[in-house]
Amino acid sequence: MKMPSLSRKGVVLSMVAGMAVVSIQLASVGLVQAGIKGSKHDLGSGGTSQLGATASTTEVCVFCHTPHGSNTSAPVPLWNKSLSTASYTRYSSLNTTTLDGSEAPVGSVSLACLSCHDGSQAMDVMINAPGSDGYNAAGANFAGGVSMTGFPKLGADLSNDHPISIQYGGGGWKSTDGDGAAAATTLKDGSFKAGVKSTINSNPAWWIDTSVGTTNVRDKTDMVLYTRTLSGVVQPFVECASCHDPHNASTASATSVSFLRISNTGSAVCLACHDK
Ligand code: HEC
Ligand code: HEC
Ligand code: HEC
Ligand code: HEC
Repeated sequence: MKMPSLSRKGVVLSMVAGMAVVSIQLASVGLVQAGIKGSKHDLGSGGTSQLGATASTTEVCVFCHTPHGSNTSAPVPLWNKSLSTASYTRYSSLNTTTLDGSEAPVGSVSLACLSCHDGSQAMDVMINAPGSDGYNAAGANFAGGVSMTGFPKLGADLSNDHPISIQYGGGGWKSTDGDGAAAATTLKDGSFKAGVKSTINSNPAWWIDTSVGTTNVRDKTDMVLYTRTLSGVVQPFVECASCHDPHNASTASATSVSFLRISNTGSAVCLACHDK
């Protein structure tokens, strides 16, 4: 790998610092968030009883992230996988009469999830394998192709899944809306909960506050919306990670089943966005 080490080290340090801040925040508000280690997203040898783990490394993060030379073709933190090139059947193809929002091409963090969950690529495909000289810009199998048997695949037919890469609130939330809590009336479809818009590094950030965590602060337990541009307008979208936090293990507590951001008791995940 030919990387200027100073700036890359900066990235690693800020990543580590970011994680420390996160754990302090969690501790201070008393949230218990189960880690990824030993979870179904731990594909290394330390993960137990999940499908498709490999004995070839003890590393956890490497199956998704690399500190250097990451894939920048999707806006996902330091992504270590080639993205899927599958062509997807979309939710909109069902043509439900009630759908208001427009879909953008399957992208953002959803494409990163689908780089494993559409089943088109082995889970051990990575750009920068553990150890030195393991770099392959196109992505290569690390452990000789981890088994996909029994894996909870969504496949390329997404018409039977909750819509993703879809505008929030029927597309009425405008990038020109000011920061702070937005009024529900700015949403085209009034049956959605209002959310919060903020500006971070000059980029707009949107999320829906849940009852967990701090109001008007973007916590991991909020429904995160992803910034995308459709028809020239920068606006918030629902993606896989709006509902799921891929690091929140389902092993340690009943509140983190299926890597969900919050417990779905009483359908709290659904009611965070849908005013029903
Ligand atoms: C199965 C894939 C996967 C694994 C394994 C994984 N991550 Fe992630 N990680 C993601 C995805 C996807 C995102 C983007 C999530 C989002 O947009 O909220 C992300 C985001 C992050 C972020 C930035 C956002 C945040 O949640 O703070 C950090 C930091 C991070 N990961 C660190 C790690 C570390 C450290 C490990 C190993 C201990 C790890 N991840 C393992 C998929 C993974
Ligand atoms: C992060 C916000 C969010 C969460 C959480 C969420 N939804 Fe949605 N949902 C949406 C958006 C946005 C649409 C697209 C609606 C539109 O544009 O008309 C949608 C669409 C739907 C539709 C299809 C509507 C139609 O007209 O075809 C159904 C049904 C639905 N959601 C049910 C659920 C259920 C059940 C849950 C919980 C498991 C859930 N949603 C969680 C944002 C969310
Ligand atoms: C590196 C490959 C990989 C990536 C990338 C990945 N996953 Fe997974 N995911 C897995 C594996 C492996 C399993 C567990 C298979 C098993 O043992 O059942 C899994 C399981 C899950 C489960 C089920 C957990 C449970 O308790 O049954 C959810 C939900 C999930 N992933 C969501 C996501 C989301 C959302 C993303 C993107 C933010 C993502 N995954 C990215 C490999 C991946
Ligand atoms: C609107 C919220 C929402 C979105 C968006 C969403 N999911 Fe889920 N997902 C859920 C909920 C809720 C469950 C738990 C369902 C249950 O308990 O059976 C779930 C379960 C899963 C499972 C486990 C299925 C099983 O049978 O074990 C996987 C894998 C998964 N999601 C992956 C994804 C991927 C990949 C995406 C994006 C393409 C995605 N999800 C988008 C809400 C969502």
